[in-house]
Amino acid sequence: MSLFNFKKKEAEAAPAQGPLTEAQKDLVQSSWEKVVPIADTAAELFYGKLFELDPAVKPLFANSDMSEQGKKLMQMITVAVKGLDNLGELVPAVQKLGERHNGYGVTAEHYDTVGAALLDTLEKGLGEAFTPETKEAWTITYTTLASVMKEAQFGKA
Ligand code: HEM
Repeated sequence: MSLFNFKKKEAEAAPAQGPLTEAQKDLVQSSWEKVVPIADTAAELFYGKLFELDPAVKPLFANSDMSEQGKKLMQMITVAVKGLDNLGELVPAVQKLGERHNGYGVTAEHYDTVGAALLDTLEKGLGEAFTPETKEAWTITYTTLASVMKEAQFGKA
């Protein structure tokens, strides 16, 4: 898990694309706290944007209760955001999530679309609080989580 490295010295020298610094982790955690109270709305925004970006994704959720699915997604993101403090526990949980996605008809390309829908949701949900720094921190966080999931799902990132 070299992408996540919270050692101060390396964090200070962090390039634009990871590793996630302490400050970036704090930005992700504090901004997510603002989304949690509007989780149902955020989930609706998320799936609305996802299906707008790629209508072909819709059939994957044909048998899903989208209200339930939205809750599961938001809960999992909450687990992941809190888990940035404890990667030893988070990484195996995200790997298992990735393995389960093997059975859902999900492709590697879908992860990019989901990432775009997530950033759009954060922008709408957070408004001005979605600063460029916050966006960058979320981009690194999502990209890293998606890499762990894809590696578990397809055997490569
Ligand atoms: C960081 C990325 C993602 C997270 C956190 C996430 C989270 C979840 C969670 C928590 C579930 C509930 C079932 C379970 O835990 O196994 C789930 C199911 C599902 N996800 Fe994801 N997911 C991600 C990426 C994706 C992508 C890229 C797609 C493709 C469009 C996708 C499509 C689905 C589908 C089709 C289901 C099954 C729905 C059902 O059984 O009704 N997910 N996801």
